Amino acid sequence: MKLKWCDEIFFSLWFLQSLCLQEKVILFKLILDFEGIKSKFSLRTADEPDDDICYLVPGQEDTVARCNFNHTSKTFVVIHGWTVTGMYESWVPKLVDALYKREPDSNVVVVDWLSRAQQHYPVSAAYTKLVGKDVAIFIDWMEEQFNYPLDNLHLLGYSLGAHAAGIAGSLTKKKINRITGLDPAGPNFEYAEATTRLSPDDADFVDVLHTYTRGSPDRSIGIQKPVGHIDIYPNGGGFQPGCNLGEALRLIAEKGLADVDQLVKCSHERSIHLFIDSLLYEDKPSLAYRCNTKETFEKGLCLSCRKNRCNNLGYTVNKVRAKRNSKMYLKTRSQMPYKVFHYQVKVHFFGKVNVTKTNQPFLVSLYGTADESKNIALILPEISTNKTYSSLVYTEINIGDLLMVTLQWEKESIFSWSDWWTSYAFDIQRVRVKAGETQKKMVFCSRDGISHLTKGKEAVVFVKCAAKPNNTDTGQDLKERSAHEFSEE
Ligand SMILES: *[C@@H]1O[C@H](CO)[C@@H](O)[C@H](O)[C@H]1NC(C)=O
Ligand SMILES: *[C@@H]1O[C@H](CO)[C@@H](O)[C@H](O)[C@H]1NC(C)=O
Ligand SMILES: *[C@@H]1O[C@H](CO)[C@@H](O)[C@H](O)[C@H]1NC(C)=O
Ligand SMILES: *[C@@H]1O[C@H](CO)[C@@H](O)[C@H](O)[C@H]1NC(C)=O
Repeated sequence: MKLKWCDEIFFSLWFLQSLCLQEKVILFKLILDFEGIKSKFSLRTADEPDDDICYLVPGQEDTVARCNFNHTSKTFVVIHGWTVTGMYESWVPKLVDALYKREPDSNVVVVDWLSRAQQHYPVSAAYTKLVGKDVAIFIDWMEEQFNYPLDNLHLLGYSLGAHAAGIAGSLTKKKINRITGLDPAGPNFEYAEATTRLSPDDADFVDVLHTYTRGSPDRSIGIQKPVGHIDIYPNGGGFQPGCNLGEALRLIAEKGLADVDQLVKCSHERSIHLFIDSLLYEDKPSLAYRCNTKETFEKGLCLSCRKNRCNNLGYTVNKVRAKRNSKMYLKTRSQMPYKVFHYQVKVHFFGKVNVTKTNQPFLVSLYGTADESKNIALILPEISTNKTYSSLVYTEINIGDLLMVTLQWEKESIFSWSDWWTSYAFDIQRVRVKAGETQKKMVFCSRDGISHLTKGKEAVVFVKCAAKPNNTDTGQDLKERSAHEFSEE
């Protein structure tokens, strides 16, 4: 088990701050004290994505021309979240830059609410109402004064900024085209009414990435419940690959301690970098799949694209508005480009004697027309004689069309006496594979009719089944049981 003490400390700090300032009286006074502070709207440029050069000031029409606002282009409005330092975090220029790379003619506006965002967390959380109101006033002004169409408007809010975006969307006179919530903040919002947080009513289309939803709902940094039309939970939404302690230490060794606060928020901020990935790597879009639970997704049972069950993560999402909000899942790499290829692998374990084993380690290798991905580790929670098991296997390598699969049953790392004198084996006829990204279903057969997969022995090979003149696929087949393990969602 990996000790994620960095996260734990971060949780604790955040939480303690919340506890210190629960008293509504204090909260109310502070809000009054800061009444005068208004959000600022900085129109950034592609040349200087990290500088506030020109502000669009609501009520001052000349600022719009002075800042070279393009009235016929799209506008992105970026809203930051809570900040410890009172400064923009390093992702801001990265996101601005990526937006301009993808949409060179667009206007990228960064909302500066830093002074309100550096208060104690519950205070800043309460300020999202005022920030949302500021943004709504700005948008209504652009719409009324310049006839700027809100169809061209896309709000992107991170953490507390996601809720500010939602409030803005609920207050504008006309509906905003799209709001993207990047790991919307959880504390103080998980159980809040829809009107005070991001919700599907806030724009024509609301898409949300959930990347740091660990622990019980009241302690989770990212909101756990779905709050958009589409809610994507990369890697289950709890914790992101590459954000563990070992990785953090490696980064500190490489880049020094300066970025430590970035490291602690690694999973939270991953939502932004996944969106940036979707802007920059147009040719490597990550697909997410609708699924009822992450456990079902882990079994590979949700890799379907029928009836909008799959969608692109990020910028090019298809604007599907399901009646009930739907959770979607995918796996990613630990670095950009994040895309991986998902496969469902289904195997029926034949045997003469009844055997049940739990938590068994396997290695799967996939060989394709373009490349191969060897020894993908896989743990099956349970295997039993004459049952079918389905599992999710994923690889960052684009292997092309799958040609061959090998399967190896490893010994557990812990020495076991029973393993020492018993040789466990199952007979396998075929391996069924479904590729999520291509939606292709394939069946791979043992070259000998039946292969013996023995624990601790070499891998067994499955190749594309030979085409037979007669369809013997069902007739001569041994009966494959436990149909429930077999069916897709
Ligand atoms: C404004 O954007 C449009 C595309 O939306 C582009 O054709 C035009 O050149 C831009 N105008 C200026 C002044 O950059
Ligand atoms: C498993 O099924 C096969 C064929 O359907 C049968 O021959 C075998 O006896 C079964 N094994 C057990 C342990 O019931
Ligand atoms: C294996 O177990 C199943 C039920 O779990 C039983 O029907 C079958 O007879 C058993 N087979 C053997 C060979 O013990
Ligand atoms: C299938 O095999 C039978 C004999 O086993 C033969 O009579 C029949 O024509 C075959 N059908 C096809 C479609 O090849």
